[in-house]
Amino acid sequence: MSEILFVNCCVRDGSRTKRLAEYVLKKMGGNSEEVNISLSDLRPLDKALLEKRNDDIARGDYSDRMYDQARLFSSADNIVIAAPYWDLSFPSCLKVYIENISVLGLTFEYGTDGKPKGLCKANRFIYVTTSGGRIGEYNLGYDYIHALFTGLFGFEKGIFIKAEELDIDGKDPELILKSAMNDVDRIIL
Ligand SMILES: Cc1cc2nc3c(=O)[nH]c(=O)nc-3n(C[C@H](O)[C@H](O)[C@H](O)COP(=O)(O)O)c2cc1C
Repeated sequence: MSEILFVNCCVRDGSRTKRLAEYVLKKMGGNSEEVNISLSDLRPLDKALLEKRNDDIARGDYSDRMYDQARLFSSADNIVIAAPYWDLSFPSCLKVYIENISVLGLTFEYGTDGKPKGLCKANRFIYVTTSGGRIGEYNLGYDYIHALFTGLFGFEKGIFIKAEELDIDGKDPELILKSAMNDVDRIIL
């Protein structure tokens, strides 16, 4: 049975993004393993961590626990990311997660042509978000993740699931979420 890595970047209690992502996970079936990013002890790459990581990579030694997330990410059959739309993109904990999984030798390498080559098992990812207003042309969170996952990690495609305008007066968030779940039924086979 396929293993899904659920990268949960939802911060609020009662998160609607998480609800929508859970609907996606149910629809996909299979086992999922959740990493709750906003509650994790992942650290941004500061000077000391960056230097340690460079040394480890040079020696090919990935035994430190700090590489657990990169290992988990590269071995998952499927990836589902849930991240609310914050400040035109996503919560900073997702960027910290990205810094922790972008590890040369674990999630990507460089070919002899100098181009990056992905080392991840999954070939598609699903990105789930909800927003207070309209995302429109500023889909900066998904666009960034898509560029990184296809360009560096070798994914073939990304699927974008959204529920917009949840915080607009006069709109019914429950109805909007229901409609997004109908989209999920159509998009995810
Ligand atoms: C820190 C923060 C930043 C936000 N930034 C935006 C934004 O730039 N554009 C927008 O349309 N909504 C924004 N919102 C509203 C959220 O996108 C919206 O409430 C979303 O549904 C929250 O997801 P959740 O229910 O999973 O927490 C922001 C909310 C918070 C708390």
